[in-house]
Amino acid sequence: MEIIICEDVTAGASLCSEIIMKQIKKKKNSVLGLATGATMVPLYKNLTKIYKDKKINFSKVKTFNLDEYFGLDGSEKESFRKFMYDSLFKKTNIKEQNINLLNGKTSNWKKECNDYEHKIKRAGGIDIQILGIGTNGHIAFNEPGSSINSKTRLVKLTSQTIRDNKKYFKNKKMPEYALSMGIKTILSSKKVILLAFGENKSKIIKKFLESKPTKNIPATFLKSHDDLTVILDKKAAKLIT
Ligand code: PGA
Repeated sequence: MEIIICEDVTAGASLCSEIIMKQIKKKKNSVLGLATGATMVPLYKNLTKIYKDKKINFSKVKTFNLDEYFGLDGSEKESFRKFMYDSLFKKTNIKEQNINLLNGKTSNWKKECNDYEHKIKRAGGIDIQILGIGTNGHIAFNEPGSSINSKTRLVKLTSQTIRDNKKYFKNKKMPEYALSMGIKTILSSKKVILLAFGENKSKIIKKFLESKPTKNIPATFLKSHDDLTVILDKKAAKLIT
């Protein structure tokens, strides 16, 4: 595991973009595992800027997103699909047919999740998986208690995650379930980058670094990956420096 502490969010997002840019230069048809959430906003802004500056070409890149709220249609403004299109997909030349997202409105979640696993395998696996971390240590929506062997599935959100994310649901009730890639799925990515910015992540980052792999802090399972980079800003690293 490599831990890089950056001066601020801008520097962290820019470092992560550089790694992604190098990966795509090396392999034009790279498969990216993408995340949503506030942490990803500066990253996608940066990638969009790099694209506009013609330094990155997404024309052959494939993407797989980590998760989606169960019961939300992809057109709803709180959905992760909408977030991804608005913050990255519509602003770059990523091809529609190369974008993969879980369908939160599926009538058969088991099939949806199994198909997603197969699609990832058919694409040759994920080259770089980008992750945020929840204040409870979740990665994607693998909440505390998730098994290291979990695959893409329906999960129940914890009250802490609901507390953290309900600010995005102004006029409707936040779903209590989501579809999420599993920990095994995430660990099968060739490279993993975990991003955490801001003081509200400092406690969980300290726990993550100090703890042995445990179900109670699902992010700790990442420590068994042989190519994990953790990018922090100074605020998130406050309790470890
Ligand atoms: P955030 O979410 O980027 O909005 O803090 C991270 C996560 O829950 O994984």
